Amino acid sequence: MRSLNYLLSFGCLALFTVNGLARDWQTIVNGEYWEDTDGARIQAHGGGFIKVEDTYYWFGEDKSHNRHLFKAVNCYASQDLVNWTFRHAVLTPATHPDLAAAGRVIERPKVLYNEQTGQFVMWMHWESSNYGAAECGIARSGTIDGDYELVAHFRPNDNMSRDCTLFRDDDGTAYFASAANENADMIIYRLTDDYLDIQEQVVTLWPGSYREAPALLKTGGMYYLFTSGATGWDPNQAKYATAPAMDGPWSALTDIGDHITFDSQSTYIIPVAGTDTTTIIFCGDRWQDPDLQSSKYIWLPLHIEDGKAALSWRRIWQINTAAGAWRMSQ
Ligand code: GAL
Repeated sequence: MRSLNYLLSFGCLALFTVNGLARDWQTIVNGEYWEDTDGARIQAHGGGFIKVEDTYYWFGEDKSHNRHLFKAVNCYASQDLVNWTFRHAVLTPATHPDLAAAGRVIERPKVLYNEQTGQFVMWMHWESSNYGAAECGIARSGTIDGDYELVAHFRPNDNMSRDCTLFRDDDGTAYFASAANENADMIIYRLTDDYLDIQEQVVTLWPGSYREAPALLKTGGMYYLFTSGATGWDPNQAKYATAPAMDGPWSALTDIGDHITFDSQSTYIIPVAGTDTTTIIFCGDRWQDPDLQSSKYIWLPLHIEDGKAALSWRRIWQINTAAGAWRMSQ
């Protein structure tokens, strides 16, 4: 009887565990269109991510009008990183007359939460139609998926500023990195405490190297900066560098992935920390030009070990956000 009870409870436990895990594993299929929970194609290119409590938010460019000109920054929400619900077009031409100006281009929006002000702060690449403006733009909102208010747009420290990213360190210090000097140099800036302005130019990286599409990560006490080359919408060889501190010393650039980064360009690195482990996801854009509305998202688990990063092609794989784990498709 005792052994029967034991067997029954063990069986129930096993069943529960298998079902529980099955529910938690979600499948990422690279190279296909990705639809939201309403069945519409997700429009969040050049995207950035932020986790608030147990929800991930995805901000990115709406290219559904099939042009590079500004239509909207969209916000989606998900708990499992695969099923995304459209929340709101948080920045549109109606937000501010400067955003409605003819030829406006807004790219690579990224959002951080500022604990001191209780505001969500968005930084973006602010452009004119021929990419001559080369500015950064800043917007803010009291709610993550509300209407953002434009704060400012300018050239940081009078530097040109194109492809960009935003990064929040463990101590709350925030950094903005962007391609400067006609994209020849990459500059990292420290932001003011409210995240609404530049405090200080921290470091200028690889002058003359023409790196774009920056994405920052900190893991194991080390900073990683992933970048693409500068070939417009066409893919090229991604490279990364590491440093023990944001101001360096930064290592030389090392190739990662194949010669066209599996037909993608970096946009963000998501650390998925769960109960068991942490999976780090490389998020890239597979741009389609012409036909920008059909651009796809390429997400791959990053392998990081002993201060080195590696990226392999996985057409189908699975993520479990609760556990922080990934596996090949079952
Ligand atoms: C890419 C850049 C994109 C977009 C594009 C326009 O190099 O990463 O965000 O600006 O050029 O040609």
